[in-house]
Amino acid sequence: MKRIHIIGAGLAGLSAAITLSEGGIPCSLISLQPSERAQSVLAEGGINGALDTMGEGDTPAQHFEDTMRGGVYLADPNAVDNLTRHAPEILRWLESLGVPFNRTSEDIALRPFGGQKKRRTAYARSSTGKILMTAVIDEARKFEARGLIHRYPRHEFLRLLTDAGTCRGVRIRDCYTGEICDLTGAVILCSGGMNGIFPGMTTGTTQNSGDVAAVCLAQGVAFGNLEMLQYHPTTIGIPGKRCLVTEAARGEGGRLYIERGGEKWYFMEEKYPELGNLMPRDVVAREMYFVRRQADTGDQVYLDMTALPEETWRNKLSDLRQELMHYLALDPKAAPIPVQEGIHYFMGGILTDEEHRTNLRDLYAAGECTCQYHGANRLGGNSMLGALYGGRRAAQTVLQGEIPDAAESPFTGEEPLSTPAAPALIRQISEILLGAMGIVRKEAALKQALSRLDALHAEYLRGEYRILLARAMLLSALERRESRGAHYREDFPEKDEALRKPIAAAVQDGTISLEFRPLPERRSHAGNT
Ligand code: FUM
Repeated sequence: MKRIHIIGAGLAGLSAAITLSEGGIPCSLISLQPSERAQSVLAEGGINGALDTMGEGDTPAQHFEDTMRGGVYLADPNAVDNLTRHAPEILRWLESLGVPFNRTSEDIALRPFGGQKKRRTAYARSSTGKILMTAVIDEARKFEARGLIHRYPRHEFLRLLTDAGTCRGVRIRDCYTGEICDLTGAVILCSGGMNGIFPGMTTGTTQNSGDVAAVCLAQGVAFGNLEMLQYHPTTIGIPGKRCLVTEAARGEGGRLYIERGGEKWYFMEEKYPELGNLMPRDVVAREMYFVRRQADTGDQVYLDMTALPEETWRNKLSDLRQELMHYLALDPKAAPIPVQEGIHYFMGGILTDEEHRTNLRDLYAAGECTCQYHGANRLGGNSMLGALYGGRRAAQTVLQGEIPDAAESPFTGEEPLSTPAAPALIRQISEILLGAMGIVRKEAALKQALSRLDALHAEYLRGEYRILLARAMLLSALERRESRGAHYREDFPEKDEALRKPIAAAVQDGTISLEFRPLPERRSHAGNT
């Protein structure tokens, strides 16, 4: 029997499942949460593609340039070339599924978004993820009905089954019955970001616990750029998490300011006249951090949307307004919103080649759990694109290769690796990481954090693989002795071109090794115009 096992049922997982189904190969879609509750549903502002429907002469090549520049040239150029070249086709596919994108009188409308010089972000008000997921879930159902997609809802990933550099399958547990089974065959990991390592501090769902990443790292899967955490400039604190105030608010005209000498200082507009409030997120977040610390300013940055026209609130940001009124009891039409940086995305993740192969044979990965598209800083609007395109590309690679046989069997032995996370342990890991891996970092704090982790390790052997992942993050941040994108080192404030290489982290026998790996040479890209 042929069957591919996909871990994660968000956009990347669904995209992989649909592509495999279209190729006639069945798959298992394994997830803790139903697709309707996946992280992708929370995406707000939009999805990028150089459709050029606004008559600005946009091209995939310009999308490529913006993505590479935004990621400070640390992304895999061939992967980004593929991504940006296929983006318009992905948007048209979504349109064909019935996604009700906002439209001009003739075509899909595009809005300005951070770090991009042209309008290329397609959107459905400010609930793009929810609306897009509804259509993609519906598309997947067609294949579920034909038996090509077989869901394993409320199933937890326990570990990979590996043997001499090859992935032989995956071990999973049914969270309702507690039954454990082994699924042999090729695996595509689409497990999302590592929000659970920072409970309460991310805009993403902590259901994406980071446990899949931690276990895979411990099992020898290579990771890249684990030091690259994205702080989104505009979030608000709500019980249990950071709530995103979409970048679309600034795309539609919202302005950041801080009080200085009794006046509003629109610092982004003054410092960056070309892109202003829409500079890439790493730059905006860092500026916010620094202006708050100036002696002559207040200590709160505000997002002022009071001058936005009624039409924008009605047709483009209605859901954002509702959210702010609900959580802050503030009407953004009438009053500026206090905002703060919050962890939003993990640029670091599983290292793959542009075909989405990992370092283990028959193991592939796509979506936020990977690292090839976004380099040192992801552009807003490239996340859902990376998930959809990545899932599709990973599945295409599987379809083009030799597919190993698959089987399912109950597992009755003792499961040694995965253990439920002790909340106290996670809290301590989070606190240690946040102390050292904020917007500004330095060697002394990173080293101190490492020693605190070592002490924890002695206390909590059972949580060892989560500590290992945290260690790999800190070690990567220590190793990158430069400032690039989201990684800003107070002690190395400049970019070092000799370090324009991803840091690969891999574990053997419990020991982490790090290595700067050269980026692939950029292929000729005649198709990307
Ligand atoms: O701000 C936002 O709407 C986020 C979008 C993204 O991260 O792609």
